[in-house]
Amino acid sequence: MTTRYAVVLAAGQGTRMKSRLYKVLHPVCGKPMVQHVVDQITRVNADKIVTVIGHGAEDVKSTLGQKIDYVLQEEQLGTGHAVMQAEEQLGRLEGTTIVVCGDTPLITSETMEALIKHHEDENAKVTLLTAHAQDPAGYGRVLRNEDGTVSKVVEHKDANDEERLVNEINTGTYCFDNKTLFKALKRVNNNNVQGEYYLPDVIEIVKNDSETVAAYRTPSFEETIGVNDRVALSEVERIMKARINANHMKNGVTIIDPMQTYIGADVQIGQDTVIKPGTLLTGTSVIGEDCVIGPNTEVIDSTIGNHTSIRQSIVSESDVGNQSVIGPFAHIRPHSQLGNEIKVGNFVEVKKSKMGDGSKASHLSYIGDAEIGKDVNLGCGSITVNYDGKNKHLTKVEDGAFIGCNSNLVAPVTVGKNAYVAAGSTITDNVPGEALSIARARQTNKENYISQIQEKQNNHGRKE
Ligand code: UD1
Ligand code: CA
Repeated sequence: MTTRYAVVLAAGQGTRMKSRLYKVLHPVCGKPMVQHVVDQITRVNADKIVTVIGHGAEDVKSTLGQKIDYVLQEEQLGTGHAVMQAEEQLGRLEGTTIVVCGDTPLITSETMEALIKHHEDENAKVTLLTAHAQDPAGYGRVLRNEDGTVSKVVEHKDANDEERLVNEINTGTYCFDNKTLFKALKRVNNNNVQGEYYLPDVIEIVKNDSETVAAYRTPSFEETIGVNDRVALSEVERIMKARINANHMKNGVTIIDPMQTYIGADVQIGQDTVIKPGTLLTGTSVIGEDCVIGPNTEVIDSTIGNHTSIRQSIVSESDVGNQSVIGPFAHIRPHSQLGNEIKVGNFVEVKKSKMGDGSKASHLSYIGDAEIGKDVNLGCGSITVNYDGKNKHLTKVEDGAFIGCNSNLVAPVTVGKNAYVAAGSTITDNVPGEALSIARARQTNKENYISQIQEKQNNHGRKE
């Protein structure tokens, strides 16, 4: 097999986005556009991936990481000029180079493979990925000779009325014989409306050298949409979302209403899990098997075990075990680790806390900076008082303890194993294991108090 290389174009500002965020970093289903592109390229086993960066260079670099190479295009003089920047890294190498724009996030590795295969079958020096667009406005048009071979690509802005009627577009993905590419790039000029060095001009140059230029027309225009503005961004989001949801459904996940379900590109979901409407599963989340998630639930960068249900709740950067029940209306904040057979119910907030297997906080609690053991019952309204206005402190509740309703555990404090805290207590000192702690004012009943008061009031009235 010929060695493969790839160049990703990601230096442009993306003026048409009207954004402070660089275009290729705009997320699609939670993942930056250019990351989608690089992830797909990685699957075609390129020996070297060179990303051309310029605007937002450091941000793009930190997003994509160190596994790929970068070249800086200091001034954005066009796509041809951008590829030229990779000459030092690639120019001398034998092989096939794929060039992809960082703003076409829907492109798949399957389509890239099909493009490469066509390139090899045709023994071509350049193969262009084209598509049929209903509305080709904005794209470069593919002009063909009478015999059907490609003659050149003309940019929308440079095209005349007749050329604009062509709806076969240049998708911005290409396959080149590497040496031919860099040789031809040297001859590209900027005599066009935009005064830029256009990469597609390589096509005409190679063609004029009597080398073979081929075109592979993908049946899916959708996959090649280039995001230049936020209208296209929303369209791409919709298509990516449908694609992701369909993949999960094919893998055995029930999605009750795919229109109302938002799953990030890298989320994993186990078989027979049911996702109900209004649910967002994002980032690096991993959901187990036989779970019921939603309705109206958000799971962000979290791991959920098997047979767990989460309703009307938010779980963020946390782990939840198997057979646990979260919600309705619970908020699990970052760095929480909840075990198996846990219950975190109505209006309970958990932050940076551990809960051992079988423990429950069913109603109206705040559990922050706490280590809750196994089989602990936190009664309705149990609160860890973790913050003294300056520092956060740890609350420990050991295995089997029972915290009565409406109790404050003022941290730092430990409630020992199997201990009981009476309802309404404010616990400021450690409670030994097996003890009962009561920390509240004693009740006094004043007999006949009401009639005494009424009598007083009546006497008072008579005097006036
Ligand atoms: C480009 C193609 C057009 C094609 C379309 C497909 C050219 C001249 N035109 O147009 O034929 O139909 O893509 O989506 O190639 N970039 C750089 N450096 C630059 C200029 C651009 O890195 O100097 C990057 C951009 O960040 C972007 C990509 O190249 O990711 C494409 O640039 P863009 O300006 O969006 O090109 P289009 O006008 O869409
Ligand atoms: Ca574009």
